[in-house]
Amino acid sequence: MIKLIGIEKIYDSAAGKVHALKGIDLHIARGEIYGIIGLSGAGKSTLVRCINMLERPTAGKVFVDGQDMTALTESELRQARKSIGMIFQHFNLLSSATVYENIAFPLKLSGTDDTTIRKKVSPLLELVGLSDKANQYPAQLSGGQKQRVGIARALANRPKVLLCDEATSALDPQTTKSILDLIRVINETMSLTVVVITHEMQVIKELCDKVAVISDGVIAERGSVLEVFTNPRHDITKEFISVLLSNELPAAFRGNEISQDRTHGSLLLLRLIFLGERADDPVLAEMIRTCKGLECTMLFGNLDEIHGVPFGRFIIGLSGEDEAINGALNFLSGRDVRVEVIGYVRRNPAAVD
Ligand SMILES: Nc1ncnc2c1ncn2[C@@H]1O[C@H](COP(=O)(O)OP(=O)(O)OP(=O)(O)O)[C@@H](O)[C@H]1O
Ligand SMILES: [Mg+2]
Repeated sequence: MIKLIGIEKIYDSAAGKVHALKGIDLHIARGEIYGIIGLSGAGKSTLVRCINMLERPTAGKVFVDGQDMTALTESELRQARKSIGMIFQHFNLLSSATVYENIAFPLKLSGTDDTTIRKKVSPLLELVGLSDKANQYPAQLSGGQKQRVGIARALANRPKVLLCDEATSALDPQTTKSILDLIRVINETMSLTVVVITHEMQVIKELCDKVAVISDGVIAERGSVLEVFTNPRHDITKEFISVLLSNELPAAFRGNEISQDRTHGSLLLLRLIFLGERADDPVLAEMIRTCKGLECTMLFGNLDEIHGVPFGRFIIGLSGEDEAINGALNFLSGRDVRVEVIGYVRRNPAAVD
């Protein structure tokens, strides 16, 4: 549905040239919800704005639904943009227009008559749950309601693609969730292809099928959300994920020095990730039985789900003789579990000065 080939974007500003995108290749299939995550300045907005030509790439090609967007004239582009809706972090509503008028705006622009507009706006108001707010002004709405207006407006022309640039970044977690749920419903009921730009891994986890991690204008890593979440390869990806998992280390160990050096402490912390049906395998019980002299402390456990696939995360602390610990690592490496060595900590955190 969306194909980016060799996209380069160089901004020419007073402060000099900024190479914002460096050879981006991306393929987003029809009906997919594709997340693009990156730190501030990574190039996310530039990338998404290149899809609807709000920014013209310096080089490369952009295909949307088979149409080469870079080759269109201005008037062809206006036409093509009707099939690409967009929503923004700060909603970009017309403050002097009512909810109804905001949603009707793109239809008015394209010369639709009032009767048709009414027929199109009513179901959109219903879809986003704002039928009773049609005559209110944006200033009278909450952030979540404003974004619902933004979504309805983006859908007015019945687009095939919805671009979301940090659409939930200004919202609290609960409102974020309701907006993400709405986007998913729209994706399913209207067979929309959705591109989600965010700096929050939670948004990716809850909403997206696939994800690309963008860093300094290049795609550092990409794949299904499950794949990237359970087996991140790039440091930047690990960092994004660790934000979600940061509280999993027990309070007693948080902030403690962790070292890869055994002499630093006697407790080896491991993060274990189990996937799918293996999520509740009795692997740990078997490990303890097999490795004589091994002590195993469960420090954190969480069973989660990504798109219906069980996903268990555990942190355990191992102690015992070298032989027992090495035996345990060996045992785990032969099992269907991903093991990440966090490092050694002192056994009694209270004793650390
Ligand atoms: N119009 C512009 N003129 C010059 N430089 C720009 C322009 N727009 C963006 N840039 C630069 O391009 C780079 C990528 O910016 P972009 O807005 O795409 O990042 P982003 O990932 O969306 O960041 P954020 O999370 O803060 O929104 C940055 O270095 C930015 O300063
Ligand atoms: Mg941005």
